[in-house]
Amino acid sequence: APTKVSKICCIGAGYVGGPTCAVIALKCPHIQVTIVDLNKSRIDAWNTPDFKLPIYEPGLEDVVRQCRGRNLFFSTDVDKGIQEADLIFVSVNTPTKKSGVGAGFAADLKYVESATRQIAAVATSSKIVVEKSTVPCRTAESMRTILEANSKPNCRFDILSNPEFLAEGTAINDLFKPDRVLIGSLQTEEGKEACEKLKEVYANWVDPTRILTVGLWSSELTKLAANAMLAQRISSINALSAICEATGANIDEVAYSIGFDSRIGPKFLKASVGFGGSCFQKDILNLVYLSESLHLKEVAEYWRQVVEMNEYQKRRFSKRVVDTLFNTITGKNIAVLGFAFKADTGDTRESASITLIRDFLKERANVSIYDPQVPHEQIWQDLEEACGDMGIEEIKSSVTLRPTALDATQCADALVIATEWKEFREGIDWQTVYDGMNKPAFVFDGRLILGLEEAERLRRIGFKVTVIGRGN
Ligand code: NAD
Ligand code: UGA
Repeated sequence: APTKVSKICCIGAGYVGGPTCAVIALKCPHIQVTIVDLNKSRIDAWNTPDFKLPIYEPGLEDVVRQCRGRNLFFSTDVDKGIQEADLIFVSVNTPTKKSGVGAGFAADLKYVESATRQIAAVATSSKIVVEKSTVPCRTAESMRTILEANSKPNCRFDILSNPEFLAEGTAINDLFKPDRVLIGSLQTEEGKEACEKLKEVYANWVDPTRILTVGLWSSELTKLAANAMLAQRISSINALSAICEATGANIDEVAYSIGFDSRIGPKFLKASVGFGGSCFQKDILNLVYLSESLHLKEVAEYWRQVVEMNEYQKRRFSKRVVDTLFNTITGKNIAVLGFAFKADTGDTRESASITLIRDFLKERANVSIYDPQVPHEQIWQDLEEACGDMGIEEIKSSVTLRPTALDATQCADALVIATEWKEFREGIDWQTVYDGMNKPAFVFDGRLILGLEEAERLRRIGFKVTVIGRGN
């Protein structure tokens, strides 16, 4: 029987590598797991004595507390991590390319490539190399070519694809009880054997019937396909939300009613200000690029529309704010509640909130922002990047960051809910908020946190309420 995996190295200590490999360490006490990263401050944060981890994820700290120093280690010594391991996860970032061929669409594979080259350069024994990052279909082929062209004698490399399906905010739960774990391998003797070894690792806590094994290319494409299908549902419901606003239908009721069809199902049908996050847009654009390179123009157009609908949804929402406030928000105070791209995360990548605030600033409004998790430096950095032509000083003269939701709404003309944090649903004392706002006091709910009755209650207090997917 093949030897079991006993040492794992994960290259990339980010949102995926960190939680995923921490959970492997927790569930497999017999395996030594080392997570390495070039970013020293990130590794230092993972190692802080008081567990001030670099990412906020419910339940993560508890997992790290149980394993760190036992069989879970964080280090900047990438070479040593590679040399010691028999299985290596490559979990580095794969952002959209900013320039060159495929700019704006294709995935930038430079980090995957440099990690791969480093493995080839320093490995002194055979390794199973696992693509954890989301990559275009057939990336494993390039990795194999690089590894084989640069390896030492007696080192063989087997490449697996094992895409990650966790969602931020629920990562730990998703990892504890995944819908499925997907492993792709070459259908050769060696490929299948490598696949079996990784399967054994997951089988320590995942029901074997949920561990799917498929071909390498199917596995790579499945990751892009899954994200594209999920995002497509949101764009579909958001497209319908525009019809609701124009007709008096209610998107919550429509979503609820379609979701009862067991073929459609109730999840992921929440209309919103638009999807954000580091992956949906990036992965769809990646799929668009792939389709175009394969000369599948219609296929590319089809998927591109999912992203375009999302841009439209964000634009439509900011326009509705301006229209409702008598066609001008110049000099008015807008309180934006929520900056993260979804609740229960401090991540702001591609957050719809950033686009909305940029639009408000372009209209020369004053914006006050509150988010329970996002660090202030992150907000400044995101706004500076988003508002290209405005300098940071100009931004800071129109934007203030506030310590509480109530504080952010003081003297505001309008309040915009951009992230569905629980405290916005349950913890807001609307009468007090109303008393502190300029009148008429407008509320814009971009996250459907106000049900029909709740919205009525707010109207009785005196608010002018606008909810996404509902006519006024
Ligand atoms: P991230 O940016 O949070 O983390 C990536 C880390 O890799 C960074 O800390 C970076 O310093 C490090 N790195 C880059 N090159 C390196 C190298 N050569 N050696 C050592 N370290 C290196 O990214 P993430 O959100 O964890 O995403 C990683 C991958 O997983 C992406 O391909 C993404 O599409 C995919 N993914 C992300 C999510 C998510 O929820 N964020 C979910 C599923 C899949
Ligand atoms: C998503 C997928 O859900 C994960 O399976 C995948 O692993 C991950 O992308 C990835 O590849 O990175 P994530 O982006 O963390 O996870 O979060 P989601 O819960 O999918 O939310 C994405 C965006 O869609 C958020 O802005 C969210 O608010 C929005 N959304 C989600 C809606 O507007 N409506 C919904 O019904 C669901």
